[in-house]
Amino acid sequence: MRINSSLRIIIAFLLTLPLSGICQVAGDIIIKTANPQGWILKTQSSAYQIIVTKEGVVKPVFYGPVEQAEFAQKNARWYEGIEEVPVRGGLPFKTPMLEVVFSDQVRDADLVFTNAEIITVDGRPTLKITQKDRFYPLEVVSFTRILAEFDILEKWTVVKNTGKKGNIKIDNLQSASIVLPVDQYILTHLAGKQKHELQLQETLLTPGLKTIQNKAFKANFNPPWFLVRPQSADASTGPAYFGSLHYSGNWVLNFDRSYDGNLQILGGINFWDTAWNLKPGTTFETPKFSVGFTQNGSEGAAQSLSAYVRKTILPTTHRNDLRPILYNSWFATTYNVNEQQQLELAKIAKEIGIETFVLDDGWFKNRTDVNSGLGDWEPDKKEFPSGLPAFIKKINDMGMQFGIWVEPENVTVNSDLYRAHPNWAINFPNRQGDANRKILNLAREDVYQYLLKSLSKLLKENNISFVKWDQNKYLSEPGWPEAPAEQQREMRIRHVANLYRLVDELKKQFPQVWFESCASGSGRIDLGMLSRMDQAWASDNSNAIDRIFIHYGYLSLLPANTLVSWVTHEDPHQPTSLEYKFDVSMNGVMGIGYDITKWSDAEKEIAKRKIAEYKTVRPLVQQGTVYRLVSPMTSNRSALQYVNEDASSAVLMSYNLGAYMGGSQLYVRNTPNVIKLQGLKNDQQYKVQKLGDTQNQTAIYKGDFLMNVGMSWPVYGANKSQIVLIKAVN
Ligand code: DGJ
Repeated sequence: MRINSSLRIIIAFLLTLPLSGICQVAGDIIIKTANPQGWILKTQSSAYQIIVTKEGVVKPVFYGPVEQAEFAQKNARWYEGIEEVPVRGGLPFKTPMLEVVFSDQVRDADLVFTNAEIITVDGRPTLKITQKDRFYPLEVVSFTRILAEFDILEKWTVVKNTGKKGNIKIDNLQSASIVLPVDQYILTHLAGKQKHELQLQETLLTPGLKTIQNKAFKANFNPPWFLVRPQSADASTGPAYFGSLHYSGNWVLNFDRSYDGNLQILGGINFWDTAWNLKPGTTFETPKFSVGFTQNGSEGAAQSLSAYVRKTILPTTHRNDLRPILYNSWFATTYNVNEQQQLELAKIAKEIGIETFVLDDGWFKNRTDVNSGLGDWEPDKKEFPSGLPAFIKKINDMGMQFGIWVEPENVTVNSDLYRAHPNWAINFPNRQGDANRKILNLAREDVYQYLLKSLSKLLKENNISFVKWDQNKYLSEPGWPEAPAEQQREMRIRHVANLYRLVDELKKQFPQVWFESCASGSGRIDLGMLSRMDQAWASDNSNAIDRIFIHYGYLSLLPANTLVSWVTHEDPHQPTSLEYKFDVSMNGVMGIGYDITKWSDAEKEIAKRKIAEYKTVRPLVQQGTVYRLVSPMTSNRSALQYVNEDASSAVLMSYNLGAYMGGSQLYVRNTPNVIKLQGLKNDQQYKVQKLGDTQNQTAIYKGDFLMNVGMSWPVYGANKSQIVLIKAVN
């Protein structure tokens, strides 16, 4: 539904008038209602309403446009069948978010409202609703934290065994379940494989269950994110719901559409082959599930989520800092690393304007190929005869910071670590699995302590400013033979908890170090990881054209200051010019992964110029709002625009993916000849200037003109690109 802006203002004003039975608390954000007892949680554009029935059942009754909150309040009998915490128990016509087994083997839960409080969690109003089982010692607390300006609700659940004896076995506990009003919905999500990450998928949700999930620790390049819009809504400008999970282990998102048209969405830890034994007096807390609503379609959803991540999720240590321009050695030297060769790369890196030199894989002892040395986190003396600290000093003396690659969670069978502790790897006896590489069992305290000690030592003894934290293995044979039987299926959850503990502890000890998440590319870019890592490596596919598609998917859920993109010589197909590669790597955090010792002087000059250009637009790219103006999915062109907070500067990045005449409406892929900008001020004059234009031509246009009439497409010819600066002038 689209409502024009004056009507929205009137409705917003009407909503401020007292409604019968409504008194306002926590500002305008959480409104307590009477008759039925309940709450309306408001963000800028959305209202989420919960009631407690006469029988004490807690039910969500509305989630949608804030303008409809009053109507929803009057019609609060919707969704009769689904509770705020749907459980296994009663008639099985919903997807449960809580499935437990009590010690007498009763497998049905039956929750009743106990009390509710409005509290503040990290400065944000939060509704806390407590329920308990009508008979058994189980308490269930649901939290909804409101981030009104981002139109986001963070939802999570804590369960407690309040009994004195007997475990409660948790077969399944999701972070939250939400219910959308009756409609036909289209789901958008991402899927991919290595080097083909983050490809957008769309499907109509027909009655039944649609699941997207991760069962192997490393997601299949499908981050835990979704976008759902009514089929009748405009994809890029209409209402849409979206969400993202804060979890890096096995996760699941379920979309259960009833025949009557309600859509239930659940998300959280994937309890497939997993169970948790809740001992008396203990609690289990789920990760957060952030859900949102926007009136501005996929772009509104992407902008809300990105701003939310950039301003509230990324680690505070570097949240507001500009990300340095990186050099990374991987494609240049893979496992064959030595000091001399790295210094040669570093010398050129410095010359062209690189700020952080990252030594990727191959630097530690026993690491001769992919199947050796993992786990032995000691610098290789043969490769660095005068020691790693002395090598790093040379890099620092050149004026660059130094970064290093690690893959702490994994071990190769050919390593000192595995030879000493074969049982530290996750394994099943009598099952061979991968003969070369294993995942370490971080559920074990000794493994945790080993990794903490060796990584702290590495960071303490060396002036390391940046860590690329990789994970390249899918989980199989998920056994923990030494653990008591009742703990064996807890391994995955305990492993992830200790992974988080390890990163958190290292960050506490070394607060200035930057962290980059990598899992063979963007295999782990959930909000759990992104609350600990400053940025992420998007793909080992660095072909510039392919990257345009990967970046388009990436920017659906994460901000550009986390998107690391290198210029490399990797051109599996569609070779592009060096300028074009640089222009694509400007989409996020620029890096270079070339063997730059092979560059000619002319190529070095291009690199110098492009890096200097990137430095001028970096604050806009990394801290501005991104508008994906032209999609490479539907066009043979692509355009991104970044606008700063007060709309005084913007940068347009335009790319041709091929060259066709265009003009016929029968062409499947369109060729826009005019580009309309967004996010500018209507009455403001802007100077428009193509970066790198040797004639330094500029033109002045009003924001209104640039947005509603548009400017000519800035570049012609196959695989050509143009960066355009737009600056407010008086
Ligand atoms: C996989 C990563 O995606 C690459 O960028 C590189 O770091 C290699 N691992 C190193 O083994």
